Amino acid sequence: MFMLLCGLIALLLPGAKGAKNVLFIIADDLRPQLDVYKEFNLGPTHTPNLDELAGKSLLLKRAYVQYALCSPSRTSFLTGRRPDTTHVYDLDHYFRTVGGNFTTMPQYFKNHGYRSVGIGKIYHPGMAASHGNDPISWNEFYRETEEFGAAGHKLSWKAVSDAERQKTPLVDEKIAAQAKRSLNELSKMSQPFFLAVGFHKPHLPFVFPQKFLSTFPLSEIHLPNNAYAPVDMPRIAWSSYGELRSYNDIGALNATGQPNTTLPDHIVRDLRRAYFSAVSYMDAMVGEVLAEVKKLNLMNDTIISFIGDHGYSLGEHGLWNKHTNFEDAVHAPMMIRVPGLTDQGAVTDQLVEFVDLFPTIVEAAGLPQLTMCPEQSSHIDICSEGKSMVHLMKYPHEQWKTAAFSQYRHGHVMGYSVRTNRYRYTEWVKFSGAPNYKADLSEVVAEELYDHVQDMQENINLAHHGNSANIVASLKKTLHVGWRSIHTNLIG
Ligand SMILES: *[C@@H]1O[C@H](CO)[C@@H](O)[C@H](O)[C@H]1NC(C)=O
Ligand SMILES: *[C@@H]1O[C@H](CO)[C@@H](O)[C@H](O)[C@H]1NC(C)=O
Ligand SMILES: *[C@@H]1O[C@H](CO)[C@@H](O)[C@H](O)[C@H]1NC(C)=O
Ligand SMILES: *[C@@H]1O[C@H](CO)[C@@H](O)[C@H](O)[C@H]1NC(C)=O
Repeated sequence: MFMLLCGLIALLLPGAKGAKNVLFIIADDLRPQLDVYKEFNLGPTHTPNLDELAGKSLLLKRAYVQYALCSPSRTSFLTGRRPDTTHVYDLDHYFRTVGGNFTTMPQYFKNHGYRSVGIGKIYHPGMAASHGNDPISWNEFYRETEEFGAAGHKLSWKAVSDAERQKTPLVDEKIAAQAKRSLNELSKMSQPFFLAVGFHKPHLPFVFPQKFLSTFPLSEIHLPNNAYAPVDMPRIAWSSYGELRSYNDIGALNATGQPNTTLPDHIVRDLRRAYFSAVSYMDAMVGEVLAEVKKLNLMNDTIISFIGDHGYSLGEHGLWNKHTNFEDAVHAPMMIRVPGLTDQGAVTDQLVEFVDLFPTIVEAAGLPQLTMCPEQSSHIDICSEGKSMVHLMKYPHEQWKTAAFSQYRHGHVMGYSVRTNRYRYTEWVKFSGAPNYKADLSEVVAEELYDHVQDMQENINLAHHGNSANIVASLKKTLHVGWRSIHTNLIG
């Protein structure tokens, strides 16, 4: 009996031999620009490696980030908590200082006997992660840096020749090479691993090996057909894309970034083509890492997830970069492969949120599941404000969340946005930052309503149309009641 019990405990002990590894891959600024998302009409794609992975994964067609900016989004999905709990709304603040000393996803695996290794861009580097990469999260961390686009030759895009790359390898090539080395080392260890690989592309500057350009002939690059601000858009919803305009070549155009101004057509085409090429290059780097997983015979023992950290605008509405609550900025790719569970591939159109990743990967790996955070959780090191999606892997067509929540802050105004099956409703309200972090829902600055059945590009704000009053009232209620009430109705 005792022996049997010991045997059982050894089997169940997380981190024991036989536990599944986790390979957690992130791309930076990647909207769903993959073949498997082609119904969203985002333009040409060439992503054979990710499409193959998607075929053996749960592919989430409608996954929404909680905040369309790198550090707030990453902090949210890596801690399993929403921005109003992490208090990270910019690139400067560190969640352990302003939110709470939360146990992160890599840290949780590390605490459960896994070897936790990070490579590339996982947290936003710098102040947002303790001037490092949140050291508590990792056993090992490898930071690779970008060589092109450094001060001096700050161009928005560049197709790099083979000769140049031989002299100076591109950052994602270095990251893929390190990931392969790490996989080799980790495969020899007796403990399971949590390996996070964060690619820098397709983030600006769009730098990629020359050969990827030939996949996208200039003649096939179309301009967005909605290069204007939505009708009746409130000004607060806009972002004047200072990020793109900070590059020397774009700055020289003297663009103001104001609504209903656009960049010259040939610039828009060049930038779109360069983004598509950078996506294809990033896909090739993911392919190299996945090939190594296969070569080492780890496929059946390794959970693999792939995400972009938020969406992106490439001239749609005349907008660029992220920094908004529009669908383009908050809709991002997500796929999760769990051996034995998603081998045949599953596709779901159900709404999910990036905050759901942490509890999902924990459940898929068989670790103790995360409990739902109470209203006030700054003092609780481990809990989650998301919901495990493992149930969706088995039943991808079942009704799941009825709403997904995002937000974006402009100074003393917070835009809270809710996506339902049909609508996006966004309410911009007065918000006081540190130390109170309080939204005043009675001080509404502006509202937006987009009907995705009739207007999937969000070209017309219906919030103040006479016959929208009932739907606005209902969505306002959903937004104010919030994500908790959505979760209580879920199975699993
Ligand atoms: C945060 O928690 C970790 C353990 O998870 C602990 O080692 C560290 O000292 C804590 N930091 C602070 C600032 O409390
Ligand atoms: C932008 O252009 C659209 C379409 O022409 C127009 O309906 C809208 O009012 C304009 N918005 C602004 C802020 O000028
Ligand atoms: C931008 O402004 C600078 C300085 O005023 C001027 O020299 C340059 O010609 C302008 N460029 C364009 C494309 O208008
Ligand atoms: C991996 O799992 C699949 C499906 O269960 C099985 O067909 C295959 O033989 C396994 N491969 C290895 C190398 O164990």
